[in-house]
Amino acid sequence: MKVFEIQGGFGFDYLSAAERPRPEPGHGEVLLRMKAASINFRDILMVRGHYNPRQPLPLIPLSDGVGEVVAVGEGVSRVEVGDRVATVFCQRWRSGVPDKAKLRSTLGGPLDGTLAEYMVLWEGGVVKVPEHLSDIEAATLPCAALTAWSALVTEGDIGAGDTVLVQGTGGVSLFALQFAQALGARVIVTSSSAAKLETAHKLGSWQEINYVDDPKWAKTVKEMTDGVGVDHVVEVGGAGTLQQSLSAVRIGGQISLIGVLAGSSIELNILPILMHRIRVQGILVGSREGFETMNRGIAQHEIRPVVDRVFPFEEAREAFVYMAGGRHMGKICISFD
Ligand SMILES: NC(=O)c1ccc[n+]([C@@H]2O[C@H](COP(=O)([O-])OP(=O)(O)OC[C@H]3O[C@@H](n4cnc5c(N)ncnc54)[C@H](OP(=O)(O)O)[C@@H]3O)[C@@H](O)[C@H]2O)c1
Repeated sequence: MKVFEIQGGFGFDYLSAAERPRPEPGHGEVLLRMKAASINFRDILMVRGHYNPRQPLPLIPLSDGVGEVVAVGEGVSRVEVGDRVATVFCQRWRSGVPDKAKLRSTLGGPLDGTLAEYMVLWEGGVVKVPEHLSDIEAATLPCAALTAWSALVTEGDIGAGDTVLVQGTGGVSLFALQFAQALGARVIVTSSSAAKLETAHKLGSWQEINYVDDPKWAKTVKEMTDGVGVDHVVEVGGAGTLQQSLSAVRIGGQISLIGVLAGSSIELNILPILMHRIRVQGILVGSREGFETMNRGIAQHEIRPVVDRVFPFEEAREAFVYMAGGRHMGKICISFD
């Protein structure tokens, strides 16, 4: 079968097509014929060797994908041949609070990922996907969507009347925009691009801020919310944006710490956290149970992921380069058809 592997070193030049034997499902395992995959920022870091420089190679990258179950091993009862399923990011994290072993059971590093024509997974490492979604759309769910869901729902308790701020217009942030709206919250979106903010407005954002033109955007957020601040910040910037987020969130509000696009360390005034009783919650994607709950929500609200561009399997490397360029809005996918 055809795969893409990071082999011989790190960097996009080391991502190349290769042949591997088609795997066979053992006891409790399923064989998937992959239909589509999607890329997350983590995958860019993985290929570049920035996520885990000690990751053993070769590695098949990508955590996210959708496939058809084409064979099952003995003892499989959760899925059947013909089912359309998505991969679970942390293969062994079923529900609740994970331990270290569960957090290390991630696809696309350290485990081989979805950029392969076929893959064998434990039957508990897949979930059925909402029927109204295409294969491409469903392939965007395992990491970005579940991260946004975990932030706002599992850990965030967002509801009608709340105000949510999402940073940027990447995969996680646009899912957060869609989920928050579906739950009755209004959303402020920040972006470096006027054109992307215009599109975000068409997707339903309430207010928009250009964080390049307005680097002290917390003040603008306070003005927009009658001096109160937002209930929840979806923090993908990290160290470089956290101080603004601490000023933009209301007393007793939550910041979901998800990404480090603007750095991972900085000198920070932590006083607002205690004086304003702010909850700073780290998020790491989510469990299989969260994934299944999210899928019910996506189906009931008929939410459709925002897909920026689809690349054919043969052009997988170009897809990585395109994502690293940062011009996208929403998800970048790879089709196996
Ligand atoms: N903790 C977790 O479980 C988890 C899960 C998924 C992702 N992440 C992390 O979350 C981050 C986003 O991931 P993604 O997959 O959504 O990436 P993505 O699709 O590549 O989105 C990146 C977007 O973030 C925006 N951005 C960059 N710098 C920013 C800044 N200083 N302030 C505000 N927005 C900024 C940009 O939006 P504009 O172009 O509109 O400016 C950019 O397009 C990454 O750091 C990723 O590693 C963490």
